[in-house]
Order: sequence, then C-alpha cells, then structure tokens
Amino acid sequence: MNFIVETLQMILLTIYYHIEAFIKLFIPPKLKDLSGEIVLITGAGSGIGRLMAIEFAALDVSLVLWDINEDGLKETARQAKEKGGSRIYYFQCDCSDRAVVYRVADQVKREIGDVTILINNAGIVNGKKFMDTPDALIEKTIRVNSVSHFWTYKAFLPAMIAKNHGHLVSVASSAGLIGVNGLADYCASKFAAVGFAESVALELIAEGKDGVKTTIVCPYFINTGMFDGCGTKWPRLLPILDPDYVAKKIMKGILTDQVYIFLPRTLYFLLAVKCIVPFKQSVNLGMYFGAFSFMDAFKGREKKQN
Ligand SMILES: NC(=O)c1ccc[n+]([C@@H]2O[C@H](COP(=O)([O-])OP(=O)(O)OC[C@H]3O[C@@H](n4cnc5c(N)ncnc54)[C@H](O)[C@@H]3O)[C@@H](O)[C@H]2O)c1
Repeated sequence: MNFIVETLQMILLTIYYHIEAFIKLFIPPKLKDLSGEIVLITGAGSGIGRLMAIEFAALDVSLVLWDINEDGLKETARQAKEKGGSRIYYFQCDCSDRAVVYRVADQVKREIGDVTILINNAGIVNGKKFMDTPDALIEKTIRVNSVSHFWTYKAFLPAMIAKNHGHLVSVASSAGLIGVNGLADYCASKFAAVGFAESVALELIAEGKDGVKTTIVCPYFINTGMFDGCGTKWPRLLPILDPDYVAKKIMKGILTDQVYIFLPRTLYFLLAVKCIVPFKQSVNLGMYFGAFSFMDAFKGREKKQN
C-alpha cells in the first residue's frame, strides 16, 4: 500500500471513466442477446409488470410471471401470447410470504429451470400519513416492497453466481432516493429495496462475478393506477410518466446493462442537489416542486376498485 501511488491511480482512473462515459454518450450501446434466458417478473398481473412481460414476449425467452392476483396473471399471459410469446408460465405467488416464495421458486426451478433474469417489481402503497397507517399495513408494505427481494435473491441468485451469468432488476422508486411527505412506509420500503440491490451488486463485484448484471429502477409517478389522484406541480420538469415509456426504458436498460435508471432525468439533478445544499434549501426546493402536496389527492388502486 502506497498512498501516493494509489491516489494517483485513483485520479487517473477517475479521468479515464469520465472520458469513457462521455464518449459512450455518442455511441449507440450494444444490445445483448437474451435468447434462451428465463425471465421472472414479480407483480406481473398489472401495470409495469404486465407491460414488461409483453415487451419480453417478443424475444426468444421463457417468461415466468408471478403475482398474488391470478386473474391479472391470466390476462398478462394472454396478452404476452398475443405478442408472440410461446413459453409463458404463470404462478400465483404472495411475495410477502417467505415460505410461499421458496415453495413457488422450487416449483419454477423443477418445472422450467434456473431463472437468469429476475425482475423484482411487485409493489403496494397505502397512501396514508404515517401515524394514521395501521401497523399491519406498514409491515405488509415493507414485506412486499423490500423483504420479498431477500427471498427471491436467495432462491435464484445462487444459480446465477455458479454460472457467472444473470441479471437482477429492482423496480424501486424515486421514493427510494428522496423522502416524500405522506409516503413514510412506502419510502422506507423503497430506500430498503435500493440499498439492498446496490449492496448485493457491490458484493457481486467484490467476488468477481461480473457476469451477473444489476439494474436499479427509480421512476417518479407512473400513470398505472397505483398512485391514482396524485398530481404533479410542474409537468414539464417532473411529468407523470407513461407506463409504456417506463417499460421500454427498463427493457432498454436490461439490454444495455444500465446500472441505474432514474426517470425522468430531472431526478439525477434533484438527488445530487439534495446531497449538497443546506437542508432548508432542500425544503425550499421540495416546496417549489410540490413535494409537500404530492399525496394530497391520493386515491390509489384500492379505492378506485371499491
Ligand atoms: N405507479 C407508480 O407511480 C410507481 C412509481 C414508482 C415506482 N413504482 C413501482 O413500480 C412497481 C410496479 O408498480 P405499478 O405501477 O405497475 O403498480 P400495479 O399496482 O399496477 O402493479 C403492482 C403489482 O404487484 C402485485 N402485488 C401486490 N402485492 C403482491 C404480493 N404480495 N405478491 C405478489 N404480487 C403482488 C399486484 O397484484 C400488482 O399486479 C411497484 O414496485 C411500484 O412500487 C410505481
């Protein structure tokens, strides 16, 4: 260990990686071939999960769809078949229940094979102020949105590590990067999802398993129904995202091994600013962007269905 040598090496690599990243801005990224991959999507019974299933259906992959909602799964499988998917399997699975995740994962491994692309996408939100949220709902949100990821990784990551081949995708949220008034338990669950996915990604790098790729997706509100009622103050700066656009961005991110996908791009700026400005200025910016009233008109999916 030599402080001067290592510091020089770090500075040179810093310059190299920035130049590399700059040049890559002008070169279309190479898309990887997904033929023969086994893709598992949790929360595939609606929204982004369904749209990703439809995107994958056009490729030569085996699709494994999980959701707690069996009717939603059947509909996704039907639409994926219509798009040309030929190897589509669906399983009702409550991802918040560790025993169920392990049981259904074993069934998938026995009947279909080792999953090579795992997309943790299932999610719920209750939209209540923290002190008004029943304890059971808080626990459920954490179990579905983050703890379930531990069990799916435990079930499917060993085979990826053994072959040094695979891809782990975590559909988290911008609420996993920046706290939001009125979304405390949801933010906690998504910060946990981001921290977990990022840490395992680093473990894989440390172990030299560079064939197992990772992608963390952090979108702002998407127009799927999950956050029905929520508005945005400045739609040009922070637009409510179109579900098809998000699904296509995630797909492209997987095909190009993109590590972070923040949507819209304004989030890269807001996250950097949050870390460097005084707290009062963060609050000032939050007010400017309407962050204190995002959840005021929240209706969400449940109320809509009732
Ligand atoms: N909609 C948004 O504004 C938004 C924004 C950022 C991030 N996200 C995240 O994107 C992901 C997809 O959300 P979406 O907008 O498509 O919502 P969605 O409600 O359409 O889809 C979520 C799916 O998860 C399933 N699910 C819920 N609990 C489950 C459980 N215990 N086990 C298995 N499946 C379960 C639901 O049945 C549903 O099909 C979620 O993780 C969500 O938190 C959504």
